[in-house]
Amino acid sequence: MNTTIQNQKPTSLLYLDGVSVSFDGFKALNSLSFVVEPGELRAIIGPNGAGKTTMMDIITGKTRPDEGEVFFNGTVDLTKKDEAEIAQLGIGRKFQKPTVFESHTVWDNLELALNRKRGVFATLFYRLSPEDKGRIEEILETVRLTGRKDDYAANLSHGQKQWLEIGMLLAQEPQLLLVDEPVAGMTDAETVETAVLLKEIAKTRSVVVVEHDMGFIRDLGVKVTCLAEGSVLAEGSIDFVSSDPKVIENYLGR
Ligand SMILES: Nc1ncnc2c1ncn2[C@@H]1O[C@H](COP(=O)(O)OP(=O)(O)OP(=O)(O)O)[C@@H](O)[C@H]1O
Ligand SMILES: [Mg+2]
Repeated sequence: MNTTIQNQKPTSLLYLDGVSVSFDGFKALNSLSFVVEPGELRAIIGPNGAGKTTMMDIITGKTRPDEGEVFFNGTVDLTKKDEAEIAQLGIGRKFQKPTVFESHTVWDNLELALNRKRGVFATLFYRLSPEDKGRIEEILETVRLTGRKDDYAANLSHGQKQWLEIGMLLAQEPQLLLVDEPVAGMTDAETVETAVLLKEIAKTRSVVVVEHDMGFIRDLGVKVTCLAEGSVLAEGSIDFVSSDPKVIENYLGR
């Protein structure tokens, strides 16, 4: 356990302490401890295989830790919940590959995402309320897709599909949004816009974003956690972390 973070547990949004998990004897996470505050935007960097995605698997209940504590809102033990319960609690996750409904319009994708929250029965008898319409319009603005609302998702660029999927997650009003490598494959302009977009989103919720693109991380201008071999190697501002000799040796200098 990490005694220096224990006192942060009650006020944290996300709290991991001493989290370890092995796959066939290989320790993907090795006593990982870190804390995300309510409303915080946190960037996670680190070499391939450092355990960044595994960390998200642990938070979302896809993988169970062998040891350690994982708490949401200071009191909810995520290791006791399954994936559906964790999503219901308000933790949304964006995987690397966009999973939008290509044969539906941008608007319909967002409407479907809004309905997903209600469950099948409610959806059967459901008509779009003015509030929902307003919410979809608001999300369209946030994810820069107002001008594309009637287009099929299939016709969006890769970056716009990523934004649409972020919009679909926003429709579920998560308190915490986990985003794994959002700018991989994006154009430079889309990458710049994604940093702005995530900063806007983090005004109303917490966001944890994993990325290898250091220009993007720098644009975010937030606290950075560098993972290596399943634990925290360094944490702090981008300048602090990127000048750490351990970070240079394990990641940046490669
Ligand atoms: N379900 C699993 N079964 C077996 N091994 C796994 C599993 N999930 C992750 N691993 C292993 O754990 C290690 C950490 O992987 P992880 O995907 O978390 O790294 P990462 O930091 O996300 O890397 P990248 O930057 O390449 O995405 C890797 O060696 C990976 O092969
Ligand atoms: Mg990964």
